[in-house]
Amino acid sequence: MQNPVGYEILANGKFVLNNFSALFSNPWLWPSYLHNQAASLVTSSFVVAGIGALYLLNKKHVEFGKLFLKTGVIFGVIASILVAFPTGDLAAKNVVKYQPITFAAMEGIFETEKGGSEIVLIGQPNMLEKKLDNKIAVPNILSFLTYQEWNAEIKGLNEFDEKNYPTNIPGLYYAYHIMVGLGTIFIALMLASIIQLFRKKLYQTKWVLWSLLFMIPFPYIANTTGWYTAELGRQPWLVYNLLRTSAGASPTVSSGNTLFTLLGFVGLYLLLGMLFLILVGKIINKGPQTTR
Ligand code: HEM
Repeated sequence: MQNPVGYEILANGKFVLNNFSALFSNPWLWPSYLHNQAASLVTSSFVVAGIGALYLLNKKHVEFGKLFLKTGVIFGVIASILVAFPTGDLAAKNVVKYQPITFAAMEGIFETEKGGSEIVLIGQPNMLEKKLDNKIAVPNILSFLTYQEWNAEIKGLNEFDEKNYPTNIPGLYYAYHIMVGLGTIFIALMLASIIQLFRKKLYQTKWVLWSLLFMIPFPYIANTTGWYTAELGRQPWLVYNLLRTSAGASPTVSSGNTLFTLLGFVGLYLLLGMLFLILVGKIINKGPQTTR
């Protein structure tokens, strides 16, 4: 859907797959797949480290707490770096190459900047004036990260036809910046934790333990905003450059039906989510069992 390959368009307008193996050499596949894998490793590492921190702070299951913490931060530091570099970096390079409008929107580039693009750390998209408000940016860094050239030009939204703009530019911009912002915080916290581990001070450093505990929900937020980035970024296309989302709606399903089904799923997942939290909470509270 993001970068369709291995298909042909028949005379009646239908798309059919004509080269199955092309799916595996799709340049979009491997960076996205590895980015997702690294993201799940980040998530599990933070959960394991956070539970370890909880045991140490509560002085319960202390030996297991130390083991969890050590395992969580060793895997956490590796995964947090991998999710940013090379996998996140390669995913971003794919977006700039195959979906340049998306890239302009997610980075908040309204106008092409001559002499190199800045990287925006903070700022709010102002869609009326087509600019970023209250911007804090570092010059030329985005050009360097994208093309390894300080002055490389990156196309702004002004270069594209408005009818192909992502439909929710602020949503896309915020989702991307939250994901990358959290990714940066994950690296910083895991580096601080691993330094403390090497200094043999991790188990006593209260601020690191509290931070790791507090961080448990945030990889889930990063994953969700990553998914938003991919989905909002593809709009207004259902299949990029081939099928617009507006043309993909089924004429036989009414909007009421869709809303009803959606509410059903929201209810079901809310219930399952609550059940999950209660059961996992109980298991964490009980602590690991040993047969020795
Ligand atoms: C730190 C730097 C990061 C960079 C440069 C980065 C880059 C990207 C890019 C460019 C996309 C969009 C790809 C697409 O349109 O398919 C993406 C998607 C995604 N990111 Fe990140 N990311 C970073 C951090 C993270 C973190 C920390 C997590 C979670 C722990 C994460 C999880 C995801 C997920 C789940 C997706 C959706 C992928 C898909 O649907 O195929 N990312 N990321």
